[in-house]
Amino acid sequence: ARLSEDEILADPVAKIAAVGGARHPSIPLPKDLFAPGHRNSSGLDLSDVATLEATVAAVRQPLARAAGGEDDVAIVTTAVSRAHTAFPTWSRTPVDERAACLERLADLLEAHRDRLMAICVQEAFKTIPDAIGEVREAADFCRYYAGEARSRLRAVELPGPTGERNMLHIEGRGVWATIAPWNFPLAIFLGQTVAALVAGNTVVAKPAPQTPEIARVAVELAHQAGVPRDALILVPGGPQVGAALTADVRIAGVAFTGSTATAKRIARTLVADDDRPIVPLIAETGGINAMIVDSTALPEQVVADVVTSSFRSAGQRCSALRLLLVQADVAETVIEMLTGAMDTLRLGDPADPATDVGPVIDRASYDKLMAYRASVADRTVKTLPAPAEGLFVPPTLVRIDRIEDLDREWFGPILHVATWEAGKLEETIARVNAKGYGLTMGLHSRIARAAEVTEAAAAVGNLYINRSMIGAVVGSQPFGGEGLSGTGPKAGGPHYLYRFCAERAVSVDT
Ligand code: NAD
Ligand code: ALA
Repeated sequence: ARLSEDEILADPVAKIAAVGGARHPSIPLPKDLFAPGHRNSSGLDLSDVATLEATVAAVRQPLARAAGGEDDVAIVTTAVSRAHTAFPTWSRTPVDERAACLERLADLLEAHRDRLMAICVQEAFKTIPDAIGEVREAADFCRYYAGEARSRLRAVELPGPTGERNMLHIEGRGVWATIAPWNFPLAIFLGQTVAALVAGNTVVAKPAPQTPEIARVAVELAHQAGVPRDALILVPGGPQVGAALTADVRIAGVAFTGSTATAKRIARTLVADDDRPIVPLIAETGGINAMIVDSTALPEQVVADVVTSSFRSAGQRCSALRLLLVQADVAETVIEMLTGAMDTLRLGDPADPATDVGPVIDRASYDKLMAYRASVADRTVKTLPAPAEGLFVPPTLVRIDRIEDLDREWFGPILHVATWEAGKLEETIARVNAKGYGLTMGLHSRIARAAEVTEAAAAVGNLYINRSMIGAVVGSQPFGGEGLSGTGPKAGGPHYLYRFCAERAVSVDT
């Protein structure tokens, strides 16, 4: 039900429940929150106590306004009409001016960091380190795409015979629909949106229904930064709003991040009407991400990287490690050390900087993951006790016999482990590839040849060797998969903006 503003101010938890079914866990803040030595396992620097105090205080404030999370399909047609009308003016705005809007937006995101972090914690149950990363990445996307647009989105003169002038122009395509998931409700929501904008498109942006407020504030800041109101329009809502948006024949492209199943649904919608123009779909989806560990790897480093990759963000990253494949000779040692490390993880209130693992996003996700956890109880090597209250899925390690036994993405802190035999590295990689996903893969080995073999054989968008598998850095580790994991191009990479553009060649006989 839609809540009045008074009701929301009185009870932000009810507001969150109304839009997404999620509930903030009612766990009190520990009294020694800022006591010396109060740390969490992801290495968060707690020395900036003033900032953390301000953030935690902000988290305790009620969310200011409801952005609405219901399926109000009528808003879509109006939004697309407005964005369509705004397109000619925005697309003719010089690229330097469009880029300057993104740079101002990055400054505003940083100026409003605590407020944005607080909303990420309240709406998406991000831990404090993850909320810091979320704002940082959103600002990085804005600055990176601004710089890329300034240097790359220029008309170029191409060679031709004497007496002819050949120009290649690069322009926006029209109105883009950007559709985002809840797990990066600011960074991905804004990243794909500002890329479309700086390329000269207008945008109708749909956040996930679980996280409308952070999107509302982000769009408000984008408008403050100079993006015209009709060049960027927010349409909060769920699958029906998304479906109505992608079904609108005036949409010139779709940038989607979410599940593989939804990406396929959108792809079908885009080709359903014979008369509709053929438009690009950029889809970034899920994965069954594996890490391969051989007997030369350093077990302490392996364990630290596995814990980070599997359980941080409660496993709710598309990049997260789902399948640990350890060479049989060292498997029992690694597993034993890993189970010990899992004991150190702190489940709790995401607003407590010491928390490693917060609750999962909503009741539906919690129920699905807990039912799966129960169904694999006989194969569970290690799990942690769940707090009595809140949507906590305890980090869990499940042994499987064969690589093929894991055939879907479980989007939470559940890690599977299997073994492989010495000398079968290539075969092991081929069996992982055969799943059809291709997002992230990890290798831990001190053999140079193993790294070469993996690099050549792994059919993934992002390969991580001797490190964790999450937290791709904008501009350094362009992110995105292949196969069932997505279409590319890579977010935060040098080729991303081109896919949002139309190219026009003009040849003049002079
Ligand atoms: P989801 O597919 O359920 O929803 C994603 C978005 O699509 C939401 O905004 C949703 O409302 C919208 N949507 C749902 N049905 C639609 C339809 N028929 N038409 C148009 N829009 C529709 O995914 P989620 O649960 O929000 O996110 C988790 C998934 O996202 C996981 O599979 C994860 O791996 C993936 N993900 C991928 C990346 C990446 O970069 N590859 C990043 C983050 C998350
Ligand atoms: N880009 C995010 C990561 O690398 C999904 O974890």
